[in-house]
Amino acid sequence: MEPQTAMDIPAAGPAADPQGISQDNSQAIPLACAALEKEFREGPAVVQVLHGVDLQVARGERIAIIGASGAGKTTLLQLLGGLDTPTRGAVYVLGRNVAALGQAERGRIRNESLGFVYQFHHLLPEFTALENVAMPLLLRRLPLEQVSAEATRLLERVGLAARLHHKPGELSGGERQRVAVARALVTAPAVVLADEPTGNLDHRTGDRVFELMLELNAETGTSLVIVTHDLVRARGMDRVLHMEDGRLREVTGEALA
Ligand SMILES: Nc1ncnc2c1ncn2[C@@H]1O[C@H](COP(=O)(O)OP(=O)(O)OP(=O)(O)O)[C@@H](O)[C@H]1O
Ligand SMILES: [Mg+2]
Repeated sequence: MEPQTAMDIPAAGPAADPQGISQDNSQAIPLACAALEKEFREGPAVVQVLHGVDLQVARGERIAIIGASGAGKTTLLQLLGGLDTPTRGAVYVLGRNVAALGQAERGRIRNESLGFVYQFHHLLPEFTALENVAMPLLLRRLPLEQVSAEATRLLERVGLAARLHHKPGELSGGERQRVAVARALVTAPAVVLADEPTGNLDHRTGDRVFELMLELNAETGTSLVIVTHDLVRARGMDRVLHMEDGRLREVTGEALA
């Protein structure tokens, strides 16, 4: 592995914690961002969606992000996950500034450290449920038998044992969402970023999917960052953050009642 450089250390600010940034990944903060800003250009107009977001996700921490439609929740998750680049500010995965990494290294850190559940599932239509869930493990070049066993186990846990060989087009919306959750969890990543993972599910299935994520969090120490409109579920997390005016603010006590 390359040596850490000064570029890997966050600048001073609320998200800076040099003590937490270490070459030993087991000690590093799984995910952080500092002074994150995002602007979208629409013709001559510039729309600023994020106005300086600071966030540190501790190991094993469960964070809910709430906020109105259009507030910038998906935008933030995409930046944290390296699917889009910030206009200003930085994202740190396991203490490393992702902007300072080459493309291959960025891909590797994303595959090894992060799991995604998108607001609109992004399954590969030509592959079966089993193959979709197996994909992140195949990218790691693990033995096929182990890959298949792990992917099957996760699909069983989301209640899809009887749908292993169905393609996304042959699954209901809720089933597709459960496949997407299984795919995000199958590598037991340091952090799972989930964008309204239960938005399309009936309440009971949604509860099951949510529970599954919490179980994995408890078993493997995977941190969770979950966008949700469900205050009951949000309240069960370690921290609730409200996205408003392009910033994140912690919600506590009465405001959550
Ligand atoms: N690629 C883009 N180009 C221009 N504007 C964008 C782009 N992506 C998002 N936006 C704008 O940024 C704002 C935030 O969008 P975002 O998807 O992050 O909201 P959200 O909080 O996830 O909302 P929802 O709860 O409806 O999913 C919106 O006003 C949206 O129109
Ligand atoms: Mg969204």
